[in-house]
Amino acid sequence: MSDKSRFERRLLCIGAGHVGGPTMAMIAAKCPRYEVTVVDVNAERIGAWQSDALPIYEPGLLQIVKQVRGRNLFFSTDIAGAIDKAEIIFVSVNTPTKTFGEGAGKAPDLQYWEKTARTILEASRGGKIVVEKSTLPVRTAHAMDRILNSNRKGIHFEVLSNPEFLAEGTAIRDLEFPDRVLIGSHQTPEGGAARDALVEIYANWVPRERIITSNVWSAELSKLASNAFLAQRISSINSISALCERTAADVGEVSHAIGLDGRIGNRFLNASVGFGGSCFRKDILSLIYISETCGLQEVAGYWQGVLAINEYQKRRFVQTIVNAMFDTVTDKRIALLGFAFKKDTADTRDSPAILIARKLLDERAVVVVSDPKALANARLDLAGAPADRLLFEENPYHAARGAHALAILTEWDDYRSLDFQAIFDSMAKPAFIFDGRNILDHEALHGIGFNVFPIGKPALTHL
Ligand code: UDX
Ligand code: ADP
Repeated sequence: MSDKSRFERRLLCIGAGHVGGPTMAMIAAKCPRYEVTVVDVNAERIGAWQSDALPIYEPGLLQIVKQVRGRNLFFSTDIAGAIDKAEIIFVSVNTPTKTFGEGAGKAPDLQYWEKTARTILEASRGGKIVVEKSTLPVRTAHAMDRILNSNRKGIHFEVLSNPEFLAEGTAIRDLEFPDRVLIGSHQTPEGGAARDALVEIYANWVPRERIITSNVWSAELSKLASNAFLAQRISSINSISALCERTAADVGEVSHAIGLDGRIGNRFLNASVGFGGSCFRKDILSLIYISETCGLQEVAGYWQGVLAINEYQKRRFVQTIVNAMFDTVTDKRIALLGFAFKKDTADTRDSPAILIARKLLDERAVVVVSDPKALANARLDLAGAPADRLLFEENPYHAARGAHALAILTEWDDYRSLDFQAIFDSMAKPAFIFDGRNILDHEALHGIGFNVFPIGKPALTHL
């Protein structure tokens, strides 16, 4: 049987990262009649996807990949060959914040995106549907359209925006049971046909009423706005946490009370050391940049405030540590429990832990970084820091031994059930614990003898 008759459709994803890998694995699992290929310029990454040591850690991902790899999910570095064969091409290459030139520090760097557009154009002998999966600034599809359709080959490309809303750590659940799938298309007959083709793919497992459609610009902007709204809730509750610490209110009680209002809802109201991850800061910066380029300074300023509170929250956490420990942490051993930007991922992109570790090192503390999954990334993030003051230790008990303080930076479930009596016994005294995620039993820790500093709650001390 030829490949042509074996598969109903040929889908390709360019970019085998946190978005492309899991998304395509899910499509392959739910649509055995489609051939799904994932390509990347990074051969090492593709090699890892072909092994059992996947390049990203995501609960449940390896099981799905093993189920479909070699059946209808394929990983390859032959980008041109795969483009030519595919009918529908998802693009999920990275779009980091620009570090140079116009818009540096704000605008997304679209170089990988544009290179991909040109590669698609060069390698295609027939028209295709190109789907934006990476988060992109509004009107990127327009630029993509222009590059792709400026060809002299006489072939037509239809560009769709289909932003991905999965969160790391819960990617598989988010992909399998999405709140919604959003597909933006041009309001033309060709646009409508491309939209219907993509709807049909998702309809293999997503209820129709959850697949919503819009114009391309709305889809692009909805993705940025969703992330900005989520981040805004965290900055809102974090701003309240600072006020709680000054007024003896308890941020947990406040967020519970706020969240019971059905209009507000109770999710994304956990005060923390600040949000991290590859999306929130980048997408808000992108929103700020677009607003500024449209001359909307007040809009830009509003979103700038969300980022400013996040930076403030990270700095404030370090200040609390230093102030509580008698205004000096020089030569004191501080164990950071958690380095990933959230639990259940090895990802440390924009993790609050990076700034916190660096600031503590600036104060000449001895910093011990502990994390069950993220130590390899943490080493890269902290490259160049003084080696004699920076240690890495996966085992939290070993990290805590001899420490003057523990700081919880990631809400890993395992940290909730540590033997804190044993940890206390092994630490220097007075022993401090700074719970940057409010996941521990603060009364119990105080009972053991710790000086406890939660976020947005009164400290419990013996001093
Ligand atoms: C986010 C969006 O949730 C997802 O829809 C989008 O596709 C990509 O960006 P992600 O960054 O993977 O996903 O994780 P998310 O769960 O949103 O957490 C982001 C950050 O906010 C983490 O650092 C997390 O610890 C923090 N957070 C989250 C809080 O500090 N408090 C909360 O209540 C929730
Ligand atoms: P995300 O979290 O958005 O998925 P990642 O950085 O995890 O971002 O993944 C993006 C992937 O895109 C990387 O593996 C990178 O090598 C790949 N990539 C970047 N540019 C290209 C390109 N021009 N062609 C193919 N793959 C690319």
